Order: sequence, then C-alpha cells, then structure tokens
Amino acid sequence: MIDTELKEATKFKRKDKKTLKEITSPVSNSLSEFRVFYKDALCTDVFLLDKIVQYLLRQKGKEIRPTLVFMSAKLFGDVTERSYVAATMIELLHTATLIHDDVVDDAEVRRGFLSINKVWKNKAGVLLGDFLLSKGLLTALDYEEFKLLKVLSDAVKKMSEGELRQFKAARLFNMDEEYYFKVISEKTASLIAACCECGAISTSDDPNMHQKMHDIGMNTGIAFQIRDDLFDYGVDDIGKPKRNDIQERKVTLPFIKALENASFLETIRMRHLMRKRKKKSKDIDKIVHFVHEKGGIKYARSIMHDYADKALDELSTLPSTPERKSFEELITFIIERKK
Ligand code: IPE
Ligand code: IPE
Ligand code: MG
Ligand code: MG
Repeated sequence: MIDTELKEATKFKRKDKKTLKEITSPVSNSLSEFRVFYKDALCTDVFLLDKIVQYLLRQKGKEIRPTLVFMSAKLFGDVTERSYVAATMIELLHTATLIHDDVVDDAEVRRGFLSINKVWKNKAGVLLGDFLLSKGLLTALDYEEFKLLKVLSDAVKKMSEGELRQFKAARLFNMDEEYYFKVISEKTASLIAACCECGAISTSDDPNMHQKMHDIGMNTGIAFQIRDDLFDYGVDDIGKPKRNDIQERKVTLPFIKALENASFLETIRMRHLMRKRKKKSKDIDKIVHFVHEKGGIKYARSIMHDYADKALDELSTLPSTPERKSFEELITFIIERKK
C-alpha cells in the first residue's frame, strides 16, 4: 500500500513544485488586508466566545478560498471592496462549517491544533459555528451586498444538504459513485464554486463570466474533495486526523471503487469491516490495504485529474494573462497538495 504513496512522492520531487506561498504571491497584499477584515468580523464582547475566537485566530488554514476569490476577481480587473467582503464572508462560512463538521465527525484535531469540540466540548462547537455563520451572512448586510448574500446563502444551504446526505448514507450504507459525487458537489464544491463566482461578481458585470467561474469552481471543488478523501488513505501528516473517515464509517471514492473491483466474498467482508463502529487498528489496516490493492487510490487519483483538467480547459477559454497562469497553478496545487 505504501508503494503508491512512495512512487507518488518521488514523482513529485522530480518536478520543481511551487509552494502555496509562491503561487499566492500575486494576491499576497489582498490576503493581508483580508486578514484584518476577518479579524474585525470576529470581534465579540462575550467573554467565553472571545476566548475561543482567540484560539481560533491562532490556527490559520491554507486560505484557499479567499485566494480563489482574489484570483477570480483579478481575471477581470483590480480587486475591489466587494472582493474583500466576499473573501471575508466565505472564510467565516467555511470555518463555521469546519467547526460543525468536527462535531459531526467527532474529530480531535484541526489545522494542527486540538479541535474546538475537544477543548470546549460539542456544545461550544455548535454555538461558535453558529456565531461564525451568522457573522458571515451579516457581513453582506453590513455592506448591502445582496447579490453576494444570495450566492453564498445558496452555497451554505447546499453544504448543509451535502453533510446531511452523507450522514444518511453512512447510516444506510448505500453510498455509490453517483451518490458520492452528489455529496461532495454539495458539501465542498458548492462553496468553492461560490468563491470563484463571487470573485468574478466583484470585478465583472458579465453574467456569462459569473457562470463560467462558477463552473470552474465546481470542477475545482470536486477535485479538491477527492484530494482530501485520498488523504485518509495516505501516510502523510496533514494537520487533521487520518483514517478518521474509515473509523467514522465514511465511504469515499477510493473505497467505492475498490469494492467494485473486488470479488463477491471480499466485498461482503470489507463492507462488514467498514460497518463496524469500533474498529481495531488491525481492521483499519485491512481496509487501507484492500483499497490500495484493488486500485481504489489509482482510480480516485485519475478522476481527480479529470476534474482538474475540466477546470483548466474551461479556464483556457479566457485570455492568456499572468493572472490566468496563477489561477492554473492554484488548481494544480489543489490536486497535488500535501495537506
Ligand atoms: C477542509 O478544507 C474541508 C474540506 C472541504 C475538505 P481546507 O483543507 O481548505 O481547510 P483549511 O481552511 O485549509 O483548514
Ligand atoms: C468537508 O468534509 C467539510 C465540509 C464541507 C463541511 P470532511 O469531513 O470530508 O472534511 P475534513 O476531512 O474533516 O476536513
Ligand atoms: Mg470532517
Ligand atoms: Mg465530514
């Protein structure tokens, strides 16, 4: 199983890979300014809330979503105040859903720190998530940005539907490929699509461009989540728990495909193992080994590349500029990232 990972690692070393910092350097000033907006939006005079917010502000994510907003904006013009409003709203909504997601997934680590639900318990996680969610939506009203509010409220609705759909599938254990794509389109790609769309809205009045950027974001977002789901079967430290999907009975593309490639008997055995609530580390190893051996990883990787290619193809219809080049690099980073 480790073989695939090692081969992949050496393949990466051979090429000269740009770091995220290098890729985002054309929007680094915008990102710095965004951080001020973001911090301001989180101000509260409720003592406990402020304590948790301070903890939250110490742990920075990759800021892929604000980066996508600024990079999409720059495809059509200079970053505007609307771009900042969009980036701030989106990072607030994203962080809110992560905090809620960690409660749902019973996860212990996020962004390299103990998760909120583990330090302050689930109840605080639910309340803090609500606080961030409302702050995110209110930011649009503060700036009277109704169009952004509409696009992002739709995305949040879809994200909740995706999380619920996944929750239901885990219970009934009826996840298949079609259902998987529905879940990840909703829970992850809808927000990434909204990043690209809102970025475009902030600098262009052309609805065709808004739609185009939405579609690019959808395909990028699907590739993004497949990359994330592959982490669970990998060997690297990613700043959040590994094998948590398996432990939490979360069936993702690598497992779905491995089952398809397996014999009837193996399928029964593996489904039974995956269904177990309290898996021993031996059970988890068996599942990971099975998924690697049956080509689940290889397949998921190739589908991930297909979606990234779709996004890149669509992007290539825009004028060839340095801004487009940066965007392309970001899409490539998303599928090759190590966390
Ligand atoms: C994690 O998103 C949630 C998923 C949709 C997989 P990120 O990997 O962008 O999280 P941060 O913001 O960098 O922590
Ligand atoms: C993605 O779900 C998070 C949301 C879209 C809310 P996951 O459960 O797959 O993400 P991680 O792995 O916890 O970041
Ligand atoms: Mg999770
Ligand atoms: Mg989850």
